[in-house]
Amino acid sequence: MDKLRIAGGRALAGEIQVSGAKNAALPILCAALLAADTLELSRVPVLQDVRTMLRLLRQLGVRDTREGEALLLDARALTSHEAPYDLVKTMRASILVLGPLLARLGEARVSLPGGCAIGARPVDQHIKGLQAMGAQISIEHGYVVAKAARLRGARIVTDMVTVTGTENLMMAATLASGTTLIENAAREPEVVDLAQALNAMGARVSGAGTDRIEIEGVQALHGARHAVMADRIEAGTFLCAAAAAGGDVVLRGVASVTLDATLEKLRATGAQIEAGDDWLRLVMAGRPRAVSVRTAPFPGFATDMQAQFMAVDAIASGTATITETIFENRFMHVLEMQRLGADITIEGNTAVVRGVERLSGATVMATDLRASAGLVIAALVAEGETIIDRIYHLDRGYEGIEAKLGALGAAVERLR
Ligand code: UD1
Repeated sequence: MDKLRIAGGRALAGEIQVSGAKNAALPILCAALLAADTLELSRVPVLQDVRTMLRLLRQLGVRDTREGEALLLDARALTSHEAPYDLVKTMRASILVLGPLLARLGEARVSLPGGCAIGARPVDQHIKGLQAMGAQISIEHGYVVAKAARLRGARIVTDMVTVTGTENLMMAATLASGTTLIENAAREPEVVDLAQALNAMGARVSGAGTDRIEIEGVQALHGARHAVMADRIEAGTFLCAAAAAGGDVVLRGVASVTLDATLEKLRATGAQIEAGDDWLRLVMAGRPRAVSVRTAPFPGFATDMQAQFMAVDAIASGTATITETIFENRFMHVLEMQRLGADITIEGNTAVVRGVERLSGATVMATDLRASAGLVIAALVAEGETIIDRIYHLDRGYEGIEAKLGALGAAVERLR
């Protein structure tokens, strides 16, 4: 299993290009299932989760080819409507094939994702919404089995804000008869990116980016071209790294508006941030000040940035609280950060982080994707060498992380 070796204590300086967003690419890849045509995507990041999704799509009959920068998905001849357990269990986002398969083929059989390291994460809202659109759904042998001759438009109010739930229902509704209204919809920029891709394919989606999305169903979608948005979580991770380790970094290709909540908190730590339409610069001199955060759906502070920000607070001056409101069990990085010398205690869904002056390198284990990113940041600051084990979690969501950190002057090496 690959590991990362990081020699800490160097400030970061330089410029990197932000990759395409994993959480936008995954639903947009699934959107290809909706049209008997070719979807041409650019800026699809080269990541383990994307490979897993392509494997699943191939199993359903989608043909994918890379042409230079572009990824072409041809879904003319779908051959299956089943997403098997073996693939779904490795990546929860596989549930995103449910809506498109049902809408296009009238049936879908998708394994339930089951538990995952950061909590129970049920899919009841996806199911409830599809039922409201007229689908017959049963759970059989661990699979969601869904049927509908043609889905029909409905008004759906989700019980909580769910990102992939909103995306699944939005995709399903594009081919339904009549108009669907999703209320309490997720406002995440990735939902907006998916809506843009769907509209390029001939869908009629409006309101994405607000909590009320309207989808007027059409008979069929067609091929289109779309460039996936930049990864705001990857960008935020590099900004936290520079805020913790100090330095001067420029990120290219990212829209700063997608990062407002993170930027506001980073400014409060003492970082100087300049932002243009598609670039960001962060300069940090000295030690950060402790800043408390509370995770919330967009435009609040992203749960996917929580572990990385905790690493900044771990070495900040002062004490901060970090409250996780989206997922139970998302503090697994705390024990590992403690092994690096962080002073953190957990009280319910709040971590109390007392900043220490220095962390010291140790061997730690990555437990999930963003927890791993938090450990990388802590390691960049720690004195001496840190070995991070099980970095396959990191490879699920960060394209070429050691190359990018290396370009900023960090001493990072992959051990195979
Ligand atoms: C997506 C992101 C993930 C991010 C999360 C929250 C992708 C591929 N993944 O995950 O990186 O951390 O949003 O921003 O985009 N819930 C239910 N029932 C449902 C659906 C959700 O109870 O049917 C609960 C979840 O358990 C969780 C909360 O709602 O507590 C939010 O989850 P959700 O937004 O659905 O997360 P994902 O879409 O899985």
